[in-house]
Amino acid sequence: MDIQKDFSLKNHNTFGIDVKANAFVTIQSVSELEKALQQVYASEIFVLGGGSNILLTDDVPKTVFYINLLGKKIESEDDGFVYVRANAGENWHRFVLWCINQDFGGIENLSLIPGNVGTSPIQNIGAYGVELKDVFVSCEAIHMQSLEHKSFTHQDCQFGYRDSIFKNEAKGKYIITSVLLKLSKKNHRIKTSYGAIQQELEAKNIQQPTVKDVSDAVIAIRTAKLPNPKELGNSGSFFKNPIVDKNHFVELQKTYENIPSYPISEEFVKVPAGWLIDTLGYKGYRNGDAGVHKNQALVLVNYGNASGKEVYQLAQEIQQKVKDTFGITLEMEVNIIP
Ligand code: EPU
Repeated sequence: MDIQKDFSLKNHNTFGIDVKANAFVTIQSVSELEKALQQVYASEIFVLGGGSNILLTDDVPKTVFYINLLGKKIESEDDGFVYVRANAGENWHRFVLWCINQDFGGIENLSLIPGNVGTSPIQNIGAYGVELKDVFVSCEAIHMQSLEHKSFTHQDCQFGYRDSIFKNEAKGKYIITSVLLKLSKKNHRIKTSYGAIQQELEAKNIQQPTVKDVSDAVIAIRTAKLPNPKELGNSGSFFKNPIVDKNHFVELQKTYENIPSYPISEEFVKVPAGWLIDTLGYKGYRNGDAGVHKNQALVLVNYGNASGKEVYQLAQEIQQKVKDTFGITLEMEVNIIP
């Protein structure tokens, strides 16, 4: 096991926060993972994937297990569907492109989401009307203490909006090693109704879009709106879109006529957190190197040398202002470490 001491995590988190880990180990195979788990107590391990959904607010006094399990393959197929397994360390977007090149459908709307395959079930990644749960079959994982291998079915995962068992009962207990997805080979269920996808396709005069057309449209929309973490540190949406009681929402409409919402049920609506933060005037706001993105108020950014604490303070300030002004509690989507 090759252990590096006092390892800077700056290049391992998309916020680009410069903190140090006590120790850093790159895991390249399941047998290496098993060996490493035998040597380090579970409580001393910090599991790291693509680092795209964390905000590091301090040095990590633990051994980082950098899960770099690579490989993807077609496990089985029939006339209409293909079952694809990808190992946890595969970059999510590269995996999406690999599927699209073979005209496999189902994850084209999830193009360009940062992060790795192994962390995709944890927060049930989603965009443009599709969530991982729509194509997820199962994932393999290892229990960090007992080393027992467990297969989590769709039902086991208890998926919700940016939520799963891995954020609840199973939190910090398992390391996901691979994910199995069911994708279509023909008669793809193309979803273009959400956001600007339809407009993007119309502008290109595409009437019967292929999965590649949809992926290209999503890439164009995301590139225009969301900052590239390689150029400007960020973790995508910092907060979840809050679910608001309809009575409360009707009250808010009296003051804010244009407040947008998506229906959830008879009693609740989802309100875009980006709109709430934007309405408070935070879009493009900057305090030192911590700021709010100029095109999408839901994305907090690091202009260079912000510390995790500074970004966190800004996030808390926004939470407080949203609470004071709209009476709505914003929940952070990004994991704050520690
Ligand atoms: N809005 C504003 N100002 C802003 C941003 C948004 O007014 O600065 C309003 C607009 O009315 C806009 C609405 O909010 O129509 C929704 O904005 P957008 O379409 O950008 O989507 P979102 O709800 O802010 C969610 C996901 C994104 C995902 C997009 C597209 C969450 C927390 N975020 O954002 O996911 O890409 O929908 O499906 O659910 C991520 O999780 O990291 C992420 C980027």
